[in-house]
Amino acid sequence: MYSIREVAPNVIWVGGSDRRIALFENMFPLQNGVSYNSYLILDDKTALMDTVDASISSLHLENVAHALEGRELDYLVINHMEPDHCANLEEIIRRYPNVQVVGNPKTFKFFEQFFHTDISGRKIVVKEGQELSLGKHTLRFFMAPMVHWPEAMVSFETAKGILFSADAFGTFGALSGNLFADETDFENLFLDEARRYYSNIVGKFGSQVQALFKKLSCVSIQMICPLHGPVWRKDLSYILEKYDRWSKYEPEKKGVVLMYASMYGHTENAVSALANKLGERGVADMRMYDVSKTHSSYIISEMWKYSHMVVAAPTYYMNLYFPMDALLRDMAALGLKNRKAAVLGNHTWASSALKEITAILEGMKNVELIGESIDICSSLKPNQEDELNAMADAIAASVAEG
Ligand code: FEO
Repeated sequence: MYSIREVAPNVIWVGGSDRRIALFENMFPLQNGVSYNSYLILDDKTALMDTVDASISSLHLENVAHALEGRELDYLVINHMEPDHCANLEEIIRRYPNVQVVGNPKTFKFFEQFFHTDISGRKIVVKEGQELSLGKHTLRFFMAPMVHWPEAMVSFETAKGILFSADAFGTFGALSGNLFADETDFENLFLDEARRYYSNIVGKFGSQVQALFKKLSCVSIQMICPLHGPVWRKDLSYILEKYDRWSKYEPEKKGVVLMYASMYGHTENAVSALANKLGERGVADMRMYDVSKTHSSYIISEMWKYSHMVVAAPTYYMNLYFPMDALLRDMAALGLKNRKAAVLGNHTWASSALKEITAILEGMKNVELIGESIDICSSLKPNQEDELNAMADAIAASVAEG
């Protein structure tokens, strides 16, 4: 059966959630699923804002048909062509033969790459700032290139100030009947997953997010309707401030994320000893992760939150231990910057890990290495305590100064 909710008068959420999904983009673990949002505007003309993923395809079609109450669909607006929002494009176009498809030139290029349906003669190609009147509601289109695909755009509804924001302001996590962020305990239920979504999906494109903010400064946003996660109708400054900070690569908190790789526990032991010394020096809010056990997306998300990192790993056949190598290269590819880092390597007969960790971190923009790095030979020895104390002093002093 259909399952819809009113977002605002004559604006209806026609999306749904998938809790069975294990990996978003077949890569990111999901503990609590994800929602795929789609919205229908009912006015003199009707407009459907994006569609959904294949996992909730039939529900979405039923929702749209129910919300239309027998009316024709006039416009299908495609803000984003990634397949998690496009499963029903062809079916909507087939079911509603008079529908006109609204997108920018890149939207239609991608449409033709993904689909075979001929929509020539049914396209409305929009450009920056162009408007489309539905009656009382008017949509104004802002291009959002590389937030996080090149064709992405957002649609601003001018009567109520509703921003249909594509993936921007989205989050992992299924919706549980509470459509609006103010109906949920967002901070506890969604914030970490919103950060993980941002850092891993959009993180590389901070300057493009900032450019979009600049463009949108000319309008008064009263509501944000993203393609994933809750709708924002109150306290918009909360999520806007988070996005501003994340896209500027500014840490939210002072604190240390200790990430280690350890084959037999010796590197872990060194990091644990260091962590205790940091605790003794008053460093609060430390997070420690075994990179072989915790998916990289969680650690990357933590690095978007915290100011400092400790990176520790052994050498593995003259290379950096592979899971740590993958994590650091992922972090670098996502463009993390403006952080401070301390490094420990470990080796038994030939040392590479320390050099390779250092090289990757030095290749990241404004990642400052602090303290003297430590290279352990198989296991940390009591006679190295002075080195560990010096590293702890350097990290604690750096955290204290901000
Ligand atoms: Fe949710 Fe970029 O697709």
